[in-house]
Amino acid sequence: MENAVVIDRLTKKFGDFTAVDEIGLTVQKGEIFGFLGANGAGKTTAIRMLCGLLLPTSGSGSVGGFDIYKETERIKKSIGYMSQKFSLYQDLTGDENLWFYGSVYQIPRRDLRKRMEELTETLGLSEFTNRPAGSLPVGWRQRLALATALLHRPKILFLDEPTAGIDPVFRRRFWEILYRLADEGTTLFVTTHYMDEAEFCRRISIMHQGKIIEVGKPQDLIARYDQPNLQETFITLISQEGGNG
Ligand SMILES: Nc1ncnc2c1ncn2[C@@H]1O[C@H](COP(=O)(O)OP(=O)(O)O)[C@@H](O)[C@H]1O
Ligand SMILES: [Mg+2]
Repeated sequence: MENAVVIDRLTKKFGDFTAVDEIGLTVQKGEIFGFLGANGAGKTTAIRMLCGLLLPTSGSGSVGGFDIYKETERIKKSIGYMSQKFSLYQDLTGDENLWFYGSVYQIPRRDLRKRMEELTETLGLSEFTNRPAGSLPVGWRQRLALATALLHRPKILFLDEPTAGIDPVFRRRFWEILYRLADEGTTLFVTTHYMDEAEFCRRISIMHQGKIIEVGKPQDLIARYDQPNLQETFITLISQEGGNG
């Protein structure tokens, strides 16, 4: 099977501080991969390197077959990225946001119109696209942000805490959308603090203080650490590593 993401000893230093410390991973095409870790573990920094937005200090990596040092422009065109920080223009309506991002991706007008209709329909956004993004409840805003990340039909989608602060019913619906995308062949690389969501992932990694300390299927990790559930497994792993994480 082809790989969507391959990284080896990937490192990012900010001055003397090592935010991402020699991490290695392989994510298969079409896989839902959960990229877990406590706050400050280095997840966002790693994702930004994979999305071609931040140059690594050392190590290697490729995303969709493109090199994360030399082919960042091609990476940006072929992936979708839903950033942790809110990326929508608050004063623009949903439609205007979609139109704006569509032009950033240089999608021809007619295709863009069609794609916007499709996404509005499949994400259930139709009632919300003519309201300012800033006035929408968080759950709808995140769906709109997902729509902007999907406009150019990316094969690999990076989602950085897409459901943070959303209620459980909405989170479940958001994940139904993600499942549908995965069924259609999209690779999903997603961070979350919700362990129920992490259990939806085919495989997960757990990051702590810049390092990946475990990788595996949720059920395998739970068994390996002899814990009742993923929440306890996560806590056990992070606490046995020590430090202030
Ligand atoms: N541009 C930066 N300059 C200096 N330190 C940074 C920068 N970006 C992130 N960091 C630090 O790197 C560490 C990892 O941050 P981040 O990748 O955002 O973690 P996470 O997403 O897992 O919460 C944190 O200690 C953070 O303060
Ligand atoms: Mg983060």
